[in-house]
Amino acid sequence: MNDFNPEQLATLASEFEIEGRVVSVSAFGSGHINDTFRVVTDEGATHYLLQRVNHHVFKDIAAIMDNIQRVTNHLKTRYAIEFKDNDQIDRRVLTLIPTIGGESCHRDELNNFWRMFILLEGTRSYDIVETPQQAREGGRAFGQFQRLLADLDVGLIHEVLPDFHHIGNRLAQLNSAIRANPADRVKRVPEELAFIKARERRMHAILDLAAQGRLPIRITHNDTKFNNVLLDADDRAQCVIDLDTVMPGYVAYDFGDAIRTIINCAAEDEADLDKVRLNVPLFEAYADGYFEEAHYFLTADEVASLMEGVLLFPYMQAVRFLTDFLEGDHYYKVHHADHNLQRTRAQLKLVSELEAREPALRAIVARVAAGYQ
Ligand SMILES: Nc1ncnc2c1ncn2[C@@H]1O[C@H](COP(=O)(O)OP(=O)(O)O)[C@@H](O)[C@H]1O
Ligand SMILES: [Mg+2]
Repeated sequence: MNDFNPEQLATLASEFEIEGRVVSVSAFGSGHINDTFRVVTDEGATHYLLQRVNHHVFKDIAAIMDNIQRVTNHLKTRYAIEFKDNDQIDRRVLTLIPTIGGESCHRDELNNFWRMFILLEGTRSYDIVETPQQAREGGRAFGQFQRLLADLDVGLIHEVLPDFHHIGNRLAQLNSAIRANPADRVKRVPEELAFIKARERRMHAILDLAAQGRLPIRITHNDTKFNNVLLDADDRAQCVIDLDTVMPGYVAYDFGDAIRTIINCAAEDEADLDKVRLNVPLFEAYADGYFEEAHYFLTADEVASLMEGVLLFPYMQAVRFLTDFLEGDHYYKVHHADHNLQRTRAQLKLVSELEAREPALRAIVARVAAGYQ
């Protein structure tokens, strides 16, 4: 992020169809993938958000920009029909600002890709959900996102990260790390490997249902972290952001991905496993908000699949952390030796906690779903 000086950033911002002249460009937000800057112009009314897209993660920039364009256009059309309040639309859906040449992004001399959105004033995102009200708004936002996209042809959306949430693929990567054993660490993790092995079959539940043709492929967000929802000052959800990972997928993936962090009382890498406990009220609030929107389109099989997503995501995250540990810590940034092992253990503890409370959590989902029948 520090590789760019203010003049360079101002020049980059001027490549886009903005109103007025650039007055300042400053680092913004707490995203971990893209580099994000706030752009202020002398016109004052609209501020902008300039982003350098992480092309190490996203190889096919044209495909992600095409997805974002299609999805935001569709959402805007649907909002216009539903809410009939045109002033609100640009606060509810991201607006891409094209380059002066009419492109959706700008490529600089160093092969960086830049894009620009309208900055939504008076909003903020939270890394951690603190209240049931926030959890409910998160569920509502992602439920609404899926609902409004339910009538967009999924065949038009590119799979920008193939097999991103495919557990068979993630386990295959773990198995190759075990076989290659480059850091000689396999001998340190027999218990973790046994825990993972014992649950391999069950964790294919969503893929199995899909193979039987029982789960529709929908347009999903695929990065349903709470900081990808912008809230207003009263904690009301305004807009779903970070659309890079929008792809064809199963609704249980978005649900499970969101719940993984919301339901955990501890940090993702908590060292004291006794602290990894479930926050059931936040789970219930998220489910509540989600169904308020999603009940319009969810099938019975999809409702049944949601808890499979809840179990799958901490399990899959553990598989990914453990793979990186065995490979010698190349993918995730580690802050101390064994950090990836600590993360693995915290996620596996979360799986155990979820298994222990599974009937109660299923009953909550069933009760919330029944409220809409
Ligand atoms: N249109 C916007 N208006 C206001 N804030 C935004 C907007 N888009 C992103 N942000 C802020 O910038 C942060 C990073 O943006 P995001 O697109 O989520 O990038 P990353 O992929 O790095 O997470 C977000 O968490 C949010 O706080
Ligand atoms: Mg983000």
